[in-house]
Amino acid sequence: MSFLNTTEVAFGLDISDRNLRMIQLEKKSKKIKVQLYSEVKLPPDCIISGEIKQPKVFLDSLNKMIKTKVGRGKLSDEVISVLPEEKTFFKIINMPLVSDEEIIDKIKEVLPQDIPVDFNDVYMDYQIMEKTDKGLVVLVGISPKNIIESYVDILAKANLIPTVLEIESAPISRLLLEQATNQTPQIIIDIGAQRTGLFLHDKTIKFTVSLPISGNNITKHIVDTLEMKWDEAEKAKIVCGLDKTKCHGALLEIFSDVINELNTRITKAINFYYYNFPDSKKIERIVLCGGGANFIDIAPVLESKLKIPVVVSNPWEIIENPNTSFFNDQRSQSFITALGLGLRGLRPDTFL
Ligand SMILES: Nc1ncnc2c1ncn2[C@@H]1O[C@H](COP(=O)(O)OP(=O)(O)OP(=O)(O)O)[C@@H](O)[C@H]1O
Ligand SMILES: [Mg+2]
Repeated sequence: MSFLNTTEVAFGLDISDRNLRMIQLEKKSKKIKVQLYSEVKLPPDCIISGEIKQPKVFLDSLNKMIKTKVGRGKLSDEVISVLPEEKTFFKIINMPLVSDEEIIDKIKEVLPQDIPVDFNDVYMDYQIMEKTDKGLVVLVGISPKNIIESYVDILAKANLIPTVLEIESAPISRLLLEQATNQTPQIIIDIGAQRTGLFLHDKTIKFTVSLPISGNNITKHIVDTLEMKWDEAEKAKIVCGLDKTKCHGALLEIFSDVINELNTRITKAINFYYYNFPDSKKIERIVLCGGGANFIDIAPVLESKLKIPVVVSNPWEIIENPNTSFFNDQRSQSFITALGLGLRGLRPDTFL
């Protein structure tokens, strides 16, 4: 007996201010594997706060990323990519029960009550998250037209067609929250080099905030306080972490400031949720991801402050770990967005 075994592939491209990261996933039977991957650094000032300032440099980097990809198989020309978090906005809105045709008009009526928006200048997308007798809960995403068009244009110059452009919280939650865990009210914190995003998830993403903490910010603090060179400071941060046997004195003081700030901001986000969402439930865990989640002992130290279980994410729960030296712990955390974008291509029916 033979079974027809179809292989699907999906190409995810993560664009941040300083890095391009790509992954092509393949799905064979039920297994999802990494087929192709690549990472290229972007020069400073090429993208600033999500805006492509140097299109030629960006295109050269994009082509370099494609050229230096590792693995086997042909790269798909259809890509799933991200919109810059700083330039996108999304909100959950409650509205009365209206027909599908009336939803857009209703959003246009309800949304401006909270935020000023000129619907001529933005693209809007929405998803019904809940439908009850009383009404609808709708997730609305908005991004400026000029930003979206600049991304689409430049990808086209590299012969890529963006089929979906997502906000970063969507691919991260998709990758990290499987069916078994996505019903738990929880917070995901993506600690990156430039910025840290907090996403509160309870069945869906309820809200996101950015925190004034980042990997670079911690390193800069060490540079300024201890008059170290950048590379030395970066090394000290990675080697010592929050391990008291390795990290003493001034370094420990810098790190404890960071932890206190994180603790305050997370507590603030939880309280905001409890006070502003009438159906809020107890936050049961915090998941750390992004390069900064590798900070030694960050999870137990935060847990002891917050009194909520804190775990470091496992990027390889849904996708098979390629177990190559490239995907060490640090790289794996840095690739969560690209991996989650790829997953979207294999599950086109899911929004989050
Ligand atoms: N073991 C470690 N301990 C502490 N920090 C670490 C460790 N490994 C990586 N980092 C930090 O993680 C950061 C990089 O994270 P990541 O790759 O997720 O950022 P990014 O996605 O490139 O940037 P962003 O999301 O801000 O645009 C750097 O600041 C780096 O110093
Ligand atoms: Mg990142």
